[in-house]
Amino acid sequence: MADNYRRRRYLTITVLQIITIMCQALSDQPMFAEPIPNVTVPLGRDVNLPCVVENLGDYKVAWIHVGRQMLLTIHKHVVVKIPRFSVSHDNQKTWLLHINNVHEEDRGYYMCQLNTNPMMSQVGFLQVVVPPNILDSLSTESTIAVRENQNITLTCKADGYPTPKLMWKREDGQNISINRHDRVPLYDGEQLNLTRITRNEMGAYLCIATNGVPPTVSKRITVDVEFSPLIMVPNQLVGAPAGTNATIDCHTEAHPRAMSYWFLKDEMILSNEKYTTSIMENSYRTHMRLTIKNLQADDFGNYRCISKNSLGETEGSIRLYEIPKPSAAPKATEIKSSANKEGRPSTPSPAKRPTTVWPSSYNPYYTKRTERPPPPNEERVERPEQKLRGGQSTGSAYIIRWSAPQLMVVAVQYILTGPYMPPYVPQTAN
Ligand SMILES: *[C@@H]1O[C@H](CO)[C@@H](O)[C@H](O)[C@H]1NC(C)=O
Ligand SMILES: *[C@@H]1O[C@H](CO)[C@@H](O)[C@H](O)[C@H]1NC(C)=O
Ligand SMILES: *[C@@H]1O[C@H](CO)[C@@H](O)[C@H](O)[C@H]1NC(C)=O
Ligand SMILES: *[C@@H]1O[C@H](CO)[C@@H](O)[C@H](O)[C@H]1NC(C)=O
Ligand SMILES: *[C@@H]1O[C@H](CO)[C@@H](O)[C@H](O)[C@H]1NC(C)=O
Repeated sequence: MADNYRRRRYLTITVLQIITIMCQALSDQPMFAEPIPNVTVPLGRDVNLPCVVENLGDYKVAWIHVGRQMLLTIHKHVVVKIPRFSVSHDNQKTWLLHINNVHEEDRGYYMCQLNTNPMMSQVGFLQVVVPPNILDSLSTESTIAVRENQNITLTCKADGYPTPKLMWKREDGQNISINRHDRVPLYDGEQLNLTRITRNEMGAYLCIATNGVPPTVSKRITVDVEFSPLIMVPNQLVGAPAGTNATIDCHTEAHPRAMSYWFLKDEMILSNEKYTTSIMENSYRTHMRLTIKNLQADDFGNYRCISKNSLGETEGSIRLYEIPKPSAAPKATEIKSSANKEGRPSTPSPAKRPTTVWPSSYNPYYTKRTERPPPPNEERVERPEQKLRGGQSTGSAYIIRWSAPQLMVVAVQYILTGPYMPPYVPQTAN
């Protein structure tokens, strides 16, 4: 009897144990504790993707690159033959896929898979972003020369992920002339068309590539607008008494930089005790000034300022004539002055419009205005197509007559502008 009872009791316990074990087995099914995060990483960095699993038991975790259908790791083993991939397990629930030095091809969905039956899996997305990069070989060179009034297209190409956006601005902050009417501080697009470019549009342009991934990059393109010299003479007739000092002025615009010099009749004027010459430059504008000291009879006559660059040569003419000595304190005296019409040979012409000058000093009325464009009512003397002036007056002939100080000026010009040769062969004539 007692034997029988014991056997029955034992069976009951065994069945209960089996049920308990079975229940436990059911509740110990593996499951994902968290989703795989979507991760964004810049090119070249390292990244870890976690797969968190509860109750893994004897099952194994595998990592797969979905897009490339590539098995990366199983359990603690790296399957793929790419040394940048590795896997680690924290001895609890987290399986980490490590990717070193992320490449663009690593972008995509990553699957964490368990070899249960049926299989269990979850995915997360790895975004690989690439900062913008300007492709120099497909973009405009960093210095470009163009003749005034021609059209030019500046191009910038950039890659990166996401695809970068390109915009243009001028380095000096001035507006960009898109066409004759629209002036904008910023212009969007790969190409910037500058139509009928003017000398005011000369300067450095920046193309800037952005895609939200730092760093933003830019390329600097210097646009040189070339034109033959232009001369503006504020006073073409200057009267001064003998024994005083007189100053005459010419304003020039030229690019490439011009050589500038003064002539009296047929003699080039050199800086010495008798003459002081000065040149003030501001971008493509130059203010030439000549002071003649202690005027004598043979100082009166026709002075010429000459400006010459690779695209041409222009001269302005100033007639210095004698007036009687002022008797008392300086008083404004009306004298006559004239200006030439554009393109006309600049031989002194009869007085045309009156100009007031100050007889005591004969200093220009112009001292404060050297950095500014000339007033609009000044007439311009531009002779771009002018033939090089006759035989003995060509450049080489001048050089023969230059003495040391003038050669210094030429040497400085040479240092600043390089050899005096056309640095750029114009595509077409003006
Ligand atoms: C990851 O992005 C996908 C869509 O691309 C989304 O369905 C999923 O919920 C995201 N996962 C997480 C953890 O945010
Ligand atoms: C420059 O562009 C303007 C406007 O598009 C056009 O009218 C002109 O003919 C072009 N000039 C040259 C030299 O190509
Ligand atoms: C540029 O143009 C805008 C209008 O488009 C104007 O408000 C601004 O003053 C201009 N800036 C310069 C420096 O000319
Ligand atoms: C700029 O000029 C090029 C040709 O040089 C032309 O193909 C392009 O359409 C122009 N772009 C704009 C915005 O005018
Ligand atoms: C002319 O200039 C010289 C030297 O610059 C100066 O010594 C002289 O006083 C000036 N003469 C007159 C009349 O201003």
